[in-house]
Amino acid sequence: MDERRQRAWQALELGPLWRLRGVPAAGAHAAPEDDEAPAAALPPQRFPAPGLEPGSPAVHDPLPRAAASMRPDPAPSPGPPHPEDAPGLSRPPAGAQVEVASSGWPELRAAVQSCRACSLSEGRNRTVFGVGPQEARWLVIGEGPGAEEDASGEPFVGQAGRLLDAMLAAIGLDRQRNVFIANVVKCRPPGNRNPLPEEIACCLPFLRRQVELLAPQFVLLLGRVAAHAMLGTEASVGSLRGQVHRLRVGALDVPAVVTWHPSYLLRRPEEKALAWADLCLAQEHFEAAGRAERGD
Ligand code: URA
Repeated sequence: MDERRQRAWQALELGPLWRLRGVPAAGAHAAPEDDEAPAAALPPQRFPAPGLEPGSPAVHDPLPRAAASMRPDPAPSPGPPHPEDAPGLSRPPAGAQVEVASSGWPELRAAVQSCRACSLSEGRNRTVFGVGPQEARWLVIGEGPGAEEDASGEPFVGQAGRLLDAMLAAIGLDRQRNVFIANVVKCRPPGNRNPLPEEIACCLPFLRRQVELLAPQFVLLLGRVAAHAMLGTEASVGSLRGQVHRLRVGALDVPAVVTWHPSYLLRRPEEKALAWADLCLAQEHFEAAGRAERGD
């Protein structure tokens, strides 16, 4: 077994599963994503060969350059839908958006802490801004705080967080050193329910500003809520994973991979191998982009 495979086996516990089928993993909380399509029902997944170069056919870009240059009529493309224009999302007050859109890190953190834009603020103990160095080149986006995150103020500190940390460690990422972790919503939805469209709409300007300030080189989107909010799609995680998307925020255009949320993996450990394939795809793309930038 090569070293990388061994790391994956350890991080994701990909070895034989002795748990009885149908019995949930201990501590796996009944959070979102049970409505995500099981792997058996998914369309064929695309996996690029190792050493994928940016711009290769496996990279999903809504407007490939070659295709764009062949168009007889260069009419402006409407581009992908703005995530805040996704169906069912309303926008927060314009004044608040303007302030957040021009804030620096300290102002943004203070704005999150004092936010009362939606009813999630009424039930929270702590806001959960995000964690990691501001120089991180990787950004991981989850859904929203659970009970332990609400108590500690830090994202992904519960059982799903421990799995996430192990997954990230397997590709050399560590929240103390080189990856920033944030959520779509910064306050805990009651009972770990999915955040509502209006709650997401209120909170999204914070996350979008975090993306702009961080200017990451790669984004990992965990689960359906993060993928839908950031990519402006309603497609299933099963159909979005296994390929490189483009995440557009302000002037930024960042490659992004969608994978299963760790909470989902705790309930469906048989999907961990696919999550590992997504992590490898993300790492390969990140490294290939680095090589291309350096001219290697
Ligand atoms: N799940 C999330 O999406 N985020 C957290 O911070 C914790 C659990």
